[in-house]
Amino acid sequence: MKPAVLTADATRMETVRVWDPLVRIFHWSLVVAFFGAYALGDDGGQLHQALGYTVLGLVAFRLVWGLIGSRHARFASFVPSPRRLVGYLKDVARHREARYLGHNPAGAAMIVALLLSLIATGSTGWLLTTDAFWGSEVLADAHEALANGTLFLVGLHVAGVVFSSLRHRENLVRAMFTGRKRAD
Ligand code: HEM
Ligand code: HEM
Repeated sequence: MKPAVLTADATRMETVRVWDPLVRIFHWSLVVAFFGAYALGDDGGQLHQALGYTVLGLVAFRLVWGLIGSRHARFASFVPSPRRLVGYLKDVARHREARYLGHNPAGAAMIVALLLSLIATGSTGWLLTTDAFWGSEVLADAHEALANGTLFLVGLHVAGVVFSSLRHRENLVRAMFTGRKRAD
């Protein structure tokens, strides 16, 4: 009998690759760039703008990768119809929602909301630097409100990640680092 070897092999067999390296690099770079831009928001200075453009660049990459990327990265594989989303939320309320290898429908809807919110925040930030909107208080207020709205969505996103991890007894944060999830 060779239990140690068998156990190690079995553990490896039971996980599957879900998130490709580019999705993982995208995610954690986005976390750093977003929180950095947010924290340095007050002066709207050069580093803030550079981090804001980094956010926009990362989102642009993700939109392309959502069309041509690996299986679980593609929007077609996870963006839910409203019906599927409502059905999933009802299942959550009844404590009988399915486990997904890729994004679940609620997480997926949040990802779409986050990407749109980031585009709106970054674009209003960029407009503030153009001749047309330079010094516009209305736009500065809109930019700030959008940044705070995005931060609120991020809070819900992380709460969803924790909730899902507990419900299905798996560490989704670790999976976003390793790319691997339990196979069943
Ligand atoms: C430290 C805080 C964060 C943690 C722990 C976290 C964790 C995660 C995890 C575990 C997933 C995968 C969810 C799943 O299994 O379905 C995910 C996906 C995602 N998160 Fe976060 N997240 C954090 C912050 C953020 C922030 C700040 C943003 C954007 C402003 C963000 C945007 C996204 C996006 C767009 C995805 C989809 C990934 C993809 O398919 O490309 N996250 N996050
Ligand atoms: C998507 C990422 C971004 C986030 C999360 C973000 C967040 C913020 C926050 C929280 C503020 C502070 C508002 C205040 O307290 O007055 C701010 C201000 C500002 N941001 Fe951004 N920003 C982003 C992108 C950008 C970009 C791409 C630019 C320009 C290229 C930019 C230009 C500015 C400017 C000029 C201000 C100062 C506005 C004022 O006059 O009060 N931001 N941003």
